[in-house]
Amino acid sequence: MDEKRLRRALERALLIALATPPLVAAACASAPNSSSTSGSSTLTASGGSGGATGSGADTGAVMDGGTSDADAAPGPCDGVPFVPEPADTCGAYVRFPCGLPPQVKPYADCYIPLNQCGFLCADLAFNCHVVGDACLDGGFVPDAEAGVDVDCATCPGGVGRIPAGLRRAQARPRARSAVGEHFAQVARLEAASIAAFARLRDELRAHGAPESLARRAERARRDEVRHARLCARVARRFGGAPAPARVEAIGPRSLDEIAIENAVEGVVRETFGAAIAGFQAARAADPEIASLMRSVARDEARHAALSWAVARWAAPRLPRRAREEMASRCRRAIEGLRQAAASVPVAEELAIAAGLPGREAQLALLEALDLGLWRGARGME
Ligand SMILES: [Fe+2]
Ligand SMILES: [Fe+2]
Repeated sequence: MDEKRLRRALERALLIALATPPLVAAACASAPNSSSTSGSSTLTASGGSGGATGSGADTGAVMDGGTSDADAAPGPCDGVPFVPEPADTCGAYVRFPCGLPPQVKPYADCYIPLNQCGFLCADLAFNCHVVGDACLDGGFVPDAEAGVDVDCATCPGGVGRIPAGLRRAQARPRARSAVGEHFAQVARLEAASIAAFARLRDELRAHGAPESLARRAERARRDEVRHARLCARVARRFGGAPAPARVEAIGPRSLDEIAIENAVEGVVRETFGAAIAGFQAARAADPEIASLMRSVARDEARHAALSWAVARWAAPRLPRRAREEMASRCRRAIEGLRQAAASVPVAEELAIAAGLPGREAQLALLEALDLGLWRGARGME
């Protein structure tokens, strides 16, 4: 997949997605997973009395013990963060040993109404859903004895290239607007991408890749420095405060690990991110955001093309099992984006000011990319 062909496929996908009707805010307002927190009652991980109330901004307290005092000792039923196998860089996983609080009611495909994710997830969650044994054939099967695992999706679809070892944010970003909150999270993920490309540059060199690939990774790193700075500026303009992106150092990795991460984060997520940015460039009502997204879309398409080039170089050097694993992780990543797009409402303010595509447009983008790029790619089928 050379850059020219990838850009043509992105343009085709964009044309299809832009033909979908603009987001109708009323549809979100009445959705079961509306981001409104009105009417939220007091919730704790144990479902008992007391604990964090109302605003999702209190989630840290719930995670830390189910009271409004973050320093209180955790209760036996409070959520415990864990790392799934394989690790998911876009999900913060929490196990609730006694099951979900009774007020939390998952709906289709085990997704939890967005206004309740704030009580279960410490990070800003773009969606959250039950995973593991408690989600059977798309239906929630409560099992208080075994506990319930929840995946809190922490990456807006396709934003940034998330490096292994990215630490969870210490606190949910607070802002006076959805746009400020969104760009605070985006700025953090763009900052995480700086580390991702620095690591990719070094790992490519360590594994003897052509120097041209390492140089492209270095250029992408510099792009991400600019993206992080400009997104932080937009966040601050709308009252948001980006948290720093802390990435733990990791030891040398095998080519298998690098190639699989590249496939998920680059071939799938950055490619989708480039399409989303292109959509925002066309639709954002805010001129500063529209102009920012125009340059981000161009850069992200180049980053996506680099990911495809890295995949092309690495694939023939991988054992068959690793190639199969890469293909299966790609399919899962695409499916994850599709599920998130299908279930997460986009706030009206974000759809208008930032031009974020709604459900239909995101699904159209994904379908066009799947047909035009992913499905036909060697090793992805
Ligand atoms: Fe970026
Ligand atoms: Fe990027």
